Amino acid sequence: MQHNIKRMTKIIAIAYALTTSGIIAEEYIPDLANGAQVWADTCMRCHNVRPPSDLSIRAWSFSMNHMRVRAGLTGKETRDIQAFILSSKTDTDRK
Ligand code: HEC
Repeated sequence: MQHNIKRMTKIIAIAYALTTSGIIAEEYIPDLANGAQVWADTCMRCHNVRPPSDLSIRAWSFSMNHMRVRAGLTGKETRDIQAFILSSKTDTDRK
């Protein structure tokens, strides 16, 4: 009995660590339509629209964290907008 409780605690601890570390995360499927909508509603409130080619893929993820705070977006909105922006990069834009 004691042994089982210890074992269960260990399994729960590992499962918790995996979930919080993002190794096992709920599957995220980008909603591009939502990204486009929130982008159009939000990102032009404070400045002109920044074309996807303005920043590299890496720089966009930094900038999106920055703009997430400024615009008060949820995590999902931020990821959807980022997916929308990156999906709008053209083939010749290899940044
Ligand atoms: C509440 C106002 C506000 C909103 C909303 C906002 N921005 Fe910004 N953004 C700024 C300001 C101010 C700057 C420039 C000064 C700075 O860097 O802090 C900026 C700078 C940027 C830059 C330049 C690089 C950088 O990170 O500084 C990019 C790219 C950008 N915004 C994209 C976006 C996108 C995409 C959205 C929509 C998700 C958005 N912004 C929404 C205020 C805003």
